[in-house]
Amino acid sequence: MVVSAGPTHEPIDDVRYLGNVSSGRMGFALAEAAAKRGHAVELIAGPVELSTPAGVGRTDVQTAREMLTAVRAAFREADALFMCAAVADWRPRRRRRGKWRKEKVDGDSAILELVRNPDILASVARRKGGRLVVGFALETGDGLRRARAKMERKGVDHIVLNHADVLGSERTSVSLLSREGGLRRIGPASKRAVARELVKLVDSIDSAG
Ligand code: CTP
Repeated sequence: MVVSAGPTHEPIDDVRYLGNVSSGRMGFALAEAAAKRGHAVELIAGPVELSTPAGVGRTDVQTAREMLTAVRAAFREADALFMCAAVADWRPRRRRRGKWRKEKVDGDSAILELVRNPDILASVARRKGGRLVVGFALETGDGLRRARAKMERKGVDHIVLNHADVLGSERTSVSLLSREGGLRRIGPASKRAVARELVKLVDSIDSAG
């Protein structure tokens, strides 16, 4: 199985980037739980400070476009994808060479032009066939309705819904939504315990296929 984890960094210039606060812990916990269950696992990791779990293959990437290439390549040989990474939706239109100097800007405001990044999950799900694809969503407010709409729009089998207060924390609580209409609460528990539950989704394709 393939697991993506962590943020992506989208370069502004040679020393700055757009990023987010994802720690990568949930994805690393999933990769660890899957390897312990006997699955062959490839982890596609954004820039995070975490060591690779035992028995897991790892490809490090920085940007969303690099992650797309790595996920696509790894998924070619896989039966399941857990798209846990917090992919930046936007990237600066161009990467400035050297440093973007404030002297080059007139006045007190500057404009950074952004272009949309590819949606890795939606793009990979289009060619998934019978394979398992699981997306993750971070929602505030009416999360369930939005998560369900996201699952339909991106064409995935499940969405794991997180709440914003879990960011960076060791413990979590998620709602697991299924295409067939199912809804199951997992946690509050450690990310490792939640990961062990989520990995069981792969067992169902093993027995079905
Ligand atoms: N995702 C992706 N490629 C992107 C953006 C997101 O593969 N460019 C994946 C994430 O890895 C995650 C799911 O899509 O599995 C999250 O969907 P997204 O629409 O980005 O939801 P949120 O991050 O919750 O953002 P939004 O505020 O746009 O609803």
